[in-house]
Amino acid sequence: MENESTFTTPSVPERIALGKTGLQISPLGLGTMQWGDRMFWDYGKGGYSDNDLRLVFERTLQAGVNFFDSAESYGNGRSETLLGQSVRAAGQPVVVASKYMPYPWRLRKADLIQALRRSLSRLGLPKLDLYQIHWPFPPRSVETWAEALADAAQAGLVQAVGVSNYSPDQMQRSYDVLARRGIPLASNQVRFNLLSRGPEKNGLLQACRELGVTLIAYSPLSQGLLTGKYTPQNPMRGVRGILTHGKLGPAQALIGLLREIGQAHGGKSPSQVALNWVMAKGALPIPGAKNLRQAEENLGALGWRLSENEIATLDAASDKIG
Ligand SMILES: NC(=O)c1ccc[n+]([C@@H]2O[C@H](COP(=O)([O-])OP(=O)(O)OC[C@H]3O[C@@H](n4cnc5c(N)ncnc54)[C@H](OP(=O)(O)O)[C@@H]3O)[C@@H](O)[C@H]2O)c1
Repeated sequence: MENESTFTTPSVPERIALGKTGLQISPLGLGTMQWGDRMFWDYGKGGYSDNDLRLVFERTLQAGVNFFDSAESYGNGRSETLLGQSVRAAGQPVVVASKYMPYPWRLRKADLIQALRRSLSRLGLPKLDLYQIHWPFPPRSVETWAEALADAAQAGLVQAVGVSNYSPDQMQRSYDVLARRGIPLASNQVRFNLLSRGPEKNGLLQACRELGVTLIAYSPLSQGLLTGKYTPQNPMRGVRGILTHGKLGPAQALIGLLREIGQAHGGKSPSQVALNWVMAKGALPIPGAKNLRQAEENLGALGWRLSENEIATLDAASDKIG
């Protein structure tokens, strides 16, 4: 039943700029961490199949979304493999993003190029649209990895480069290195949702606006919590259950408000309102979906806008949770 849809989706959405790269993307993307991840998302344990994920891709693309986010670490490459199959089968131009993980045993700039070639091979693509440093892990400096990204761009292997989980200072330092090489920093991908508002509070969102860097919002549904389907009586299971323990109760008032505001917009769901809030803040949400029904619901975040008053009301409710 999960694949039977009751949601209507808007016509092809507008395009926004991906940083100052010249790439034009939809204001909402699709995350693909679920495509192969067993530990966190229970891939391969019966809840959803590769066919579900193929349908998610096809419907999302059909609705005009053209930004797809993956990483070499998602399912140890399975996400890139599955995404590549869908992209090649679709035969349409899309913007494919992936990420390099600076594991402590990969210390040389050349390691990034090698990993990138493996990502391209799994994806079956000659070039990546956006390549991101997944985390600013030591021991190598963010400057080293920015130089490596510039090398990849200058080798013609990537169209644009970005970072992920970078603080305002780390982002600025990477931006400066890339600028010296004549390459714009396209994006910084960070956790950003109504229950994780760090980027608004630590100056990152503002810095992105000033530099012309796109803030890509991961976990825009707070890993499913903001959909409203999880309650203290029906908690998440596994690792997610542990991580969200203590948040579920306090989040219920906010979810009630998402529902109420959604009603005023013709019956939008909590997920749709939560994603619209991210876009209203000027960020690009990339929700993950395990099946067609979820994907279709999330697409219904497009094509309408929360009012300033509603955004302020949601901000205040989220501030109360702390
Ligand atoms: N750069 C990074 O470090 C980083 C970290 C994390 C994620 N990401 C990226 O961001 C993407 C999105 O983040 P995320 O996957 O962590 O979390 P999310 O998008 O906030 O939540 C996705 C999960 O919520 C549930 N869900 C989604 N839509 C739903 C709907 N309409 N109705 C009911 N349930 C729904 C599904 O899980 P259930 O059905 O199991 O509840 C789904 O797997 C990832 O796929 C990945 O591309 C990046």
